[in-house]
Amino acid sequence: MKRKFKVWGFIKFLLVMTVVFCCINKFKVLYLENFQQNTSNENVLEPTSLNLLKNTDSDLILVNKKNTVNEDYIPKNLVKPNIVFLNSCTKEEMQLQSKAAHALEELFKGAKEDGIILLGSSGYRSYQSQVNVYQKYYNENGKEYAEQYVAKPGTSEHQTGLAIDVTNESRCFDKTSKEAQWLANNAYKYGFILRYPEEKTDITGYNYEPWHIRYVGKRVAKKIYKNNDALEEYLNEN
Ligand code: DAL
Ligand code: ZN
Repeated sequence: MKRKFKVWGFIKFLLVMTVVFCCINKFKVLYLENFQQNTSNENVLEPTSLNLLKNTDSDLILVNKKNTVNEDYIPKNLVKPNIVFLNSCTKEEMQLQSKAAHALEELFKGAKEDGIILLGSSGYRSYQSQVNVYQKYYNENGKEYAEQYVAKPGTSEHQTGLAIDVTNESRCFDKTSKEAQWLANNAYKYGFILRYPEEKTDITGYNYEPWHIRYVGKRVAKKIYKNNDALEEYLNEN
């Protein structure tokens, strides 16, 4: 008798779990459909104010929420730097413009000499990849969060091949990590700046990103570091 009850109990449990599983899946489908409708109705991917950049060849190109690059813009000289990337990194993201790639190799070498192990996480991203990244963040975290951390397609400097996100072995690259501190203090020596500093969020339009570095060349990087400027401030002053 007892055994019969146990079997029934187990069957009931299975039925309940199946219903719960189906509900979760249905919810996911509805949520995604809703997101796709939102993206077409409100056009959440569309940057609000546009200045389409014509000169895309400069190392000092300013791509931000107001200055955009074309959907079909692909930098000419993308190469894969000889560094270690995360396994999750796509082939496309393992590229940078050649000048930035060589500077990055030097930076990683310098870090290693100081006992700091860095990994590449995401370098060049095409317009379409940025669409995917933005949509993923939007779906998972909502509009407000997405807008603070991810550029809408056409407004990301990842599309220039001059920027890369780096990380550490524990993949916990917050400002207290020794790797983030090393990067903040040394990136300029190799021609990179921290593009989204903590105290400049009102100027850059993005939250603090200790992992996102941008190649500008050694001379400019040193100036920006010493003056504690955002790229926007430096370009306004010079
Ligand atoms: N995380 C930076 C803002 C980007 O998506 O380009
Ligand atoms: Zn980035």
